[in-house]
Amino acid sequence: MKAPARTTVTAALPYANGPLHIGHIAGAYLPADIYVRSLRSRNKEVLFICGSDEHGAAITLRAIKEGTTPQAIVDKYHALMGKAFEDFGIAFDIYHRTSSELHRKTSQEFFLQLYANGAFTENTEEQYYDTEAKQFLADRYIMGTCPNCGNPDAYGDQCEKCGSALSPRDLIDPRSTLSGSKPVLKPTKHWYLPMERSQEWMQEWINTGMLDGDQQHDPAEWKPQVLGQCNSWLKEGLRPRAMTRDLTWGVPVPLPGAEGKALYVWLDAPIGYISAAKQWAADHGTDWEKWWKADDTRLLHFIGKDNIVFHAIIFPILLKQHGGFILPQNVPANEFLNLEGRKLSTSRNWAVWLHEYIARWPGRQDELRYALATILPEFRDSEFTWKDFQDKNNNELVAIIGNFVQRVFVLCNKYYGGKVPEPAASNAAQGEQDTVLWAELSAIPGKVAEDIDKFRFRDALLSAMNAGRLGNKYLTDTEPWKLEKTDPDRVRTVLFNSLRITAALSVVLEPFLPFTAQKLRTMLGLGELKWADALREGLIVPGAAIGKAEHLFKPITDAEIAVEVERLKANEPMESRSTEQGPSAPPRADAVETKVVAKPNISFDDFAKLDIRIGTIAAAERVPKADKLLKLSIEVGEAAPRTIVSGIAQHFAPEELPGKQVLVLCNLEPRKMRGVESQGMVLMAEDAEGKLVFVQPGREVPPGGEVR
Ligand code: 2FM
Ligand code: ZN
Repeated sequence: MKAPARTTVTAALPYANGPLHIGHIAGAYLPADIYVRSLRSRNKEVLFICGSDEHGAAITLRAIKEGTTPQAIVDKYHALMGKAFEDFGIAFDIYHRTSSELHRKTSQEFFLQLYANGAFTENTEEQYYDTEAKQFLADRYIMGTCPNCGNPDAYGDQCEKCGSALSPRDLIDPRSTLSGSKPVLKPTKHWYLPMERSQEWMQEWINTGMLDGDQQHDPAEWKPQVLGQCNSWLKEGLRPRAMTRDLTWGVPVPLPGAEGKALYVWLDAPIGYISAAKQWAADHGTDWEKWWKADDTRLLHFIGKDNIVFHAIIFPILLKQHGGFILPQNVPANEFLNLEGRKLSTSRNWAVWLHEYIARWPGRQDELRYALATILPEFRDSEFTWKDFQDKNNNELVAIIGNFVQRVFVLCNKYYGGKVPEPAASNAAQGEQDTVLWAELSAIPGKVAEDIDKFRFRDALLSAMNAGRLGNKYLTDTEPWKLEKTDPDRVRTVLFNSLRITAALSVVLEPFLPFTAQKLRTMLGLGELKWADALREGLIVPGAAIGKAEHLFKPITDAEIAVEVERLKANEPMESRSTEQGPSAPPRADAVETKVVAKPNISFDDFAKLDIRIGTIAAAERVPKADKLLKLSIEVGEAAPRTIVSGIAQHFAPEELPGKQVLVLCNLEPRKMRGVESQGMVLMAEDAEGKLVFVQPGREVPPGGEVR
């Protein structure tokens, strides 16, 4: 593996059909920003790319609902998101957009090169068509009755009530959301990426880092959940995926006879990273290609977990099939952030919107950056609560950093008229505390950088905060305010050292708290600082003027927090904001879109109405012509087993099911699905990768056992 000469960092292009919220920030943008800031501080060459993803069915749908054009929608959200990122200190080199001409050209050229390389297969399939609206229907444009739970308003890709993944053809009584009419099936041609051709090299590249005899990455550096999700896809076997869709709003497929067809998100959004680099290079009169093609460039994609397969499998296949491009060296995906005990939901307005936060807490960006950085969902889902935000602010930012800096500046202003004191030259004034301080402090910049390099931002922040903890301890141990009369030499030394700690803080905290770091530098009378400056001797100059003591952070009151919590809870449900883009896509929800609705409390009597029993599956078979359904025969303690139709066929082979114990809701009204009457429902849960798993008793229990 070559030592990287430069790093290209991408952060997932957010859809321009709604504002950003803290889930987006914690998922991809804050970690990416911390990472990039730390590289820049270490004088490493880095290009930080992002932009708005401005295509897809969800945007058109929103435009139709709002009685406007897709362009107007994306213009509005591109501006809103770009501003929110900037205000929040996410320091992209470029925030581009996929509706630009340069992007159209770049992605069409990319497509044509793949086409010329024979990377596609063409396939004609029947898809739903709206004869009134005269167009093929993306999954989200079709609604109907869920075959699994009977919800009459299930979407063509997913039932939001029971959470099952659907294909439009699974829906009972499908209807078009454009005209309300019943859609008809009509053949349509699309370009598929036969991913199965890449199965072998992909498996090897992911798991060993080897490609064409070259060590490209170290899989030990990849997060386990990223490897896990990739391997679970690989285990199922890569399959052909349509790279185009019947869409009017998108990059047109650049082939004759392809009118009305556009590149699907997979061949659109990530090419947006490339077009962004091109635009940045054009703006700076420099070369873009080294950022994407040089083998000493390291490419990293920061994303949320819903985009793992996209960036670790699909995009690398596209890059390799195209030729000439490097592949990502890592895909440090984060898990999801929950909010106040529930999954974040854009459609239910269960979110903290970034632009609203910035408006309500002006100048307090670092407080939110800090709170989020301490709970980044690096390896598992995590949770934001306003109470925790308050605690982190009051007990850590105010109590550790603010308190230390305040004490140092008050004393320096009081004793030395706002000048840096001259430390005592004599050894007598260099106490034991100083030796301990320097020993511990000098390890911190290295430790912070090391953790950042490993994408362990929470650990890195903890270490950076330790510099503040050390500073406070140092002041508490040395008590300079008691020595002013008796040992002025010692006081000068302690406060000089404390100013050095402040400078170090402004360096090691900068990736996390850039606004605070800047304030500290201004207070110290210093300009730009680099990582190597953290503890550099000679940085703090005796006699130099320093600023007044300032409160860096303000305590947050219970009343302020109560307002936020009330506000959140009082939110009116907003209209649904889907992120799904087209037909036959696997579920690719928004980074934090929920499938689970937190439901109102019910009485015990309501609960007691549920007849949930232990069941043992006796037999299972596929339901003809329904690729999602299995017909199960389940013993539930009755004379004969019950027949239950369950939408689990894509998660389990029928042969693996007999003998399995499950929980069955026995008094769900019987319903016919594909001509088979289902007499109950099997309870399922979903794992982190979206796979269904059975909810089972902790040990074997006779069938029919009541669950209560
Ligand atoms: O899932 C999403 O949010 C899409 N807008 C795609 C993001 S990743 C892309 F940029 F490659
Ligand atoms: Zn359902």
